[in-house]
Amino acid sequence: MKKFYITTPIYYVNDKPHVGHAYTTIAADVLSRWKRLQGEDVYFLTGTDEHGSKIALAAEAQGLTPQALVDRESAKFSALWKDLNISNDGFIRTTEARHVETVGKIFDALFKQGDIYKGHYVDWYCVSCESFWLESELVEGNCPDCGRKVERLQEESYFFKQSKYEKRLLEFYEQNPNFLMPKKRAQEIINFVKSGLKDVSISRLKEKWGIQIPQDPNHTAYVWFDALINYLTAAGFPSGSGENIWPPDIHFVGKEIFRFHAILWPAMLFALDLPTPKTVFAHGWWTAEGEKMSKSKGNFVDPNDIIPEYGVDGLRYFLLREMPFGTDGDFSMSSLKARYNAELANNLGNLLSRTLTLIEKNFDGVLNLAPEGHLIAGLPERLKTVKDAYDRAAFSEVLEILGSVVTDTNKFIDEKAPWKLVKTDKDAAGKALAECLVILRWLACAYDPFMPSSCLSIWKQLGETADLSSAASGILQNPLKGFSPQTRIEKSGILFQRKA
Ligand code: MSP
Repeated sequence: MKKFYITTPIYYVNDKPHVGHAYTTIAADVLSRWKRLQGEDVYFLTGTDEHGSKIALAAEAQGLTPQALVDRESAKFSALWKDLNISNDGFIRTTEARHVETVGKIFDALFKQGDIYKGHYVDWYCVSCESFWLESELVEGNCPDCGRKVERLQEESYFFKQSKYEKRLLEFYEQNPNFLMPKKRAQEIINFVKSGLKDVSISRLKEKWGIQIPQDPNHTAYVWFDALINYLTAAGFPSGSGENIWPPDIHFVGKEIFRFHAILWPAMLFALDLPTPKTVFAHGWWTAEGEKMSKSKGNFVDPNDIIPEYGVDGLRYFLLREMPFGTDGDFSMSSLKARYNAELANNLGNLLSRTLTLIEKNFDGVLNLAPEGHLIAGLPERLKTVKDAYDRAAFSEVLEILGSVVTDTNKFIDEKAPWKLVKTDKDAAGKALAECLVILRWLACAYDPFMPSSCLSIWKQLGETADLSSAASGILQNPLKGFSPQTRIEKSGILFQRKA
């Protein structure tokens, strides 16, 4: 069976990871976990981009060899992914031998078929973005993307014949309307291609920290050319071991690197005669307390500063709830606290705690009663909307729908008032609580991709002993599946502690 192949960008290791990197990686993790719950075989790849001038300069500034720097910094990314409960199946580093070999083979293939030629590059280069620019593209003489100073490059270079694929790219976008996502960003790419593609410089003569081109060891591969190939290396290219992985189903990228993935990357794959990814999804950017996060301002939000107070799941939840995937948003401590308190502590956490407390107090922890099922009957309809939102990578919508299930269930308890009802009609009170139990069980499955450890805790507190991930898909379809009114609940601790 072909695996669902999902990737994040490979991150530069000139600096430690921040909340922007965590965002893309968590989003890919959520989709991977959701797909696995649906019974799909997933290959989730992330990694680090370790060559190029930017890294070489960072190493020099710290008195380190580039290799020592990349080893140290790449480890910080993998450590953070472990802390954030990221379930990646692969982690690729572009300094690994397997990648160096793949890049060499790709140069070989492209040379052989005449898609690479030697020329001379004369224009501008932004080290921070590792991007080439024409004079006419500069904004007030600076990089049009990051606004930083650019440097004049005049050197011999190998070029990839990207221009040759202009027409094919436009046809490809038209025939594959799901390739460029979200749709609102597609037109910008189409217009750019229509305005005329130039060939791309894919080697550097002066930059030594890179993969040597086998055909001309004086040159190293341009870091973006090297980086995009990571997706092929990880899939086992060209040995054939990755046949059940290729092509990628979805690449998650930030909007600033959409063009590389939407134009250069498919053109490279056309040239290699390889199948193209099904979707490239470009999400938006976070600012921090209203300001662009930048090194000069030193205002990068470090996930490690958030986790002690809000927990891994609090951070995962907030990032995907606050800003619709695809648009920009602001990371502020006040909105983090507000959402955490309102949606996790007061809504979901409260639903769990009041349900379990009432069962413990009035039924000695075992209800022995089946629910009547008024609210439960509506869950399959909600599941349809959840699935539809997942298909569009609309994570904030998924969370909104699930939040409304929680709110409705809390309202249901308020109306039934089992704490009073138990005095006049104990069975009716028990049946209402059974309804809440069944819904909480469904919610533990539905929220699991976002908050895996909290959902496991909910699951255990409900007294469930089966494996959550194996049971989830059945329960989501049929909330009563495997539900036993005789189950003893195991209330323990507060799930989301309200923040003052
Ligand atoms: N190395 C390249 C990518 C090569 S992929 C073949 C690169 N690396 S990066 O370290 O700069 O990471 C950029 C990515 O990190 C963005 O595309 C996005 O996924 C994530 N983000 C970094 N800052 C971000 C925000 N402020 N907001 C949201 N995501 C951001 O580019």
